[in-house]
Amino acid sequence: AIRARKVEADKGWRTDQPIVALTAYTMRMAQLLDAHCDFLLVGDSLGQVIYGLPSTIPVTLDMMIAHGAAVVRGSWHALVAVDMPFGSYEGSPQQAFESCARVMKETGCAAVKLEGGEAMAPTIEYLTHRGIPVIGHVGLTPQAVNILGGYGARGKESSEAKKIRRDAQKVAEAGAFCIVVEGVMEELATELANTIAVPIIGIGASNACDGQILVTDDMLGLFERTPRFVKRYDDLAARIGDAAAAYAQEVRDRAFPTADQTYRPKSA
Ligand code: KIV
Ligand code: NA
Repeated sequence: AIRARKVEADKGWRTDQPIVALTAYTMRMAQLLDAHCDFLLVGDSLGQVIYGLPSTIPVTLDMMIAHGAAVVRGSWHALVAVDMPFGSYEGSPQQAFESCARVMKETGCAAVKLEGGEAMAPTIEYLTHRGIPVIGHVGLTPQAVNILGGYGARGKESSEAKKIRRDAQKVAEAGAFCIVVEGVMEELATELANTIAVPIIGIGASNACDGQILVTDDMLGLFERTPRFVKRYDDLAARIGDAAAAYAQEVRDRAFPTADQTYRPKSA
């Protein structure tokens, strides 16, 4: 097959079908997911999922770059976007540009994603005018957990729904080529999908969105705590536990390795 990595992030998605996205943090997982997805997100959720951190706040630019580069090595078809971690972009458009340029140069990714609404619009405009394709992220924005006070659904009150609408509008006007909307009521998601000019990618945001994203480890049943909006398509935690138990038993019984797994001189 021709190695044609999709890099023209701002040329638009197919609009006839919902956009399919999953997270990936490693080369091998990227290889396995690549053919099935329009884009792979190297999410800063890797802080919790891979590193056991309590939130995404401690995730560093170096961590995102290491995993971003690995995922790019495993992808040919899907667009790879890398999350900008907390503290690497909020200070100023210039700080954001330096951090995003590092991510793009050192990983080869096609786009970055950053959290925030109206307040981040000038930064998104600055970046998109300087060659950095940006995915927005509004609604429940986990890097703001200490302001939001938890990971509950957003936009339940009309004042908050109004703010999220405004956030999405400003992020789209600033040049984001799509927007992740996380943890919002169906009514708000429907309105966003119908009124915002760029595709709305939902997570915990109903079936009304233009596409869906999930954390792969959640969807595979690998991560122990999963929110209500996740559907488990497999139960890999149980299967890995079963495989490890079978191996442990066979080692203790001296049932593994057998002749099949043993180097011996070839018989003449
Ligand atoms: O970090 C992440 O995995 C994300 C997605 C769940 C949208 O931001
Ligand atoms: Na994220």
